[in-house]
This record gives sequence, structure tokens and C-alpha cells, in this order.
Amino acid sequence: MSVKLTWYGHAAIGIETGGHRLLVDPFLSGNPAAATDAKSLAPEFILISHGHGDHVGDAVTIAKRTGATIISNYEISVWLDKQGVKTHAQHIGGGHHHPFGHLKLTLALHGSALPDGSYGGNPCGFLLTTQDGHKLYLACDTGLFGDMRLIGEEGIDLAVLPIGDNYTMGPDDALRAVRLIQPKHVIPVHYNTFGLIAQDADAWAARVKAETSAIPHVLKPGEGFTLA
Ligand code: NI
Ligand code: MN
Repeated sequence: MSVKLTWYGHAAIGIETGGHRLLVDPFLSGNPAAATDAKSLAPEFILISHGHGDHVGDAVTIAKRTGATIISNYEISVWLDKQGVKTHAQHIGGGHHHPFGHLKLTLALHGSALPDGSYGGNPCGFLLTTQDGHKLYLACDTGLFGDMRLIGEEGIDLAVLPIGDNYTMGPDDALRAVRLIQPKHVIPVHYNTFGLIAQDADAWAARVKAETSAIPHVLKPGEGFTLA
């Protein structure tokens, strides 16, 4: 079995594993880097890392059309419940066995106010263990924190890290994150969507290759990476 990850631009990611389809932080409408539109995706599960508009994105529209269950923190789940979509609330440190695998919410250092100003609880990252044992760590929007080392202790096959700077880790701290996590593979996201987060991902990947044991994969929006 394999896991396929597709980057749709910014922090929007599709994951196919064991016949299940997940969609993470589906910001597509209004995303200048979007490689697809909300109508073209049919996930069974949508994961939302925090309340910001560039992450909640089209989640409600997609969930209403497809009947997808949205997995997020408790506060965002309550906000989504009121909009009539199916939700599954978890919280940081808590894991659950879903049909697609085991999902644990991890620490993230960021904000989480929802688009209408509602309180969105604490932001999170995701640690996904697929049915066939692959471990994916999506850091989502966060600054660098030392406990990434603890996440790395779980044995990460693939880490997805922001490198855009300004709102999240920039390239230097993302490189330090790779050293703490020690993943086998790493994919940079949350850059080049807007001028403020413009980065040279190839230059960053060259540093990852030279200075760590991880294999970097720079994707173009719409491209995928398969973990065999
Ligand atoms: Ni954010
Ligand atoms: Mn963001």
C-alpha cells in the first residue's frame, strides 16, 4: 500500500491512503496559487488545522456537497456544527482511530481566530499513521518549537513544513525543524501564495539535502508525492 499526497497550493493538501480521501486546509476559492477548485474535490474527511481563512477556506461548501466529516479542534468543530456539517472534534495530544488511520493532533504555535472573529481554540498540526504504518507529520501553521523533537521520536516518514516566513517558520527555522524531526522525506508548503511569503524552495531544498539526512521534495501546486 502507498500514501499519495497532493499539494493544491498554499497549505491545501489532498491525501489518498487505503482507498480513503482526505483533504487538509482546503483554501481554494481566492487562493492565487490554487491548482484546483472546490467543486473538483470529493474527500470523505476534511482536516482543519486552525481557524484562519486561508485554512478553513472552502471546507463548509465541500462538506455540504460531499457529506465529508470535518476533523478539527473542539472550538472549530462547534462553530462548524452550527453550519450543519458533520464534525469530529479532537484536541492537542489526543489521537483517534479513523477509517483512514490514526490521527493525533499536535502542538502548533500560531493563532486560530475564525473568519467571523469567533474563538477558534488552539491551532494544531496533524500526526497521521496510515493503516499500513506510514507516519506523516503536517506541522501546519506554526513557528519552530523544541518539542518537534518529541514528534520526531515517533519516526516520521514524511514531514510537511511551512517555509513562507512572516506568519510561520521561515526557511532557516524550517531547516532547524528538519533537524529536530529527522523525517525521511520533507515537503515545503505555505510559501509563494502571496508576495509576503515568497521563498526560493529549491534553495531551501538544497540546504536540506546538504545539511540533513532528509530527502526534500519541492512540488508545484497540483503535483503529488507518493510514499511507497
Ligand atoms: Ni494561519
Ligand atoms: Mn496560514
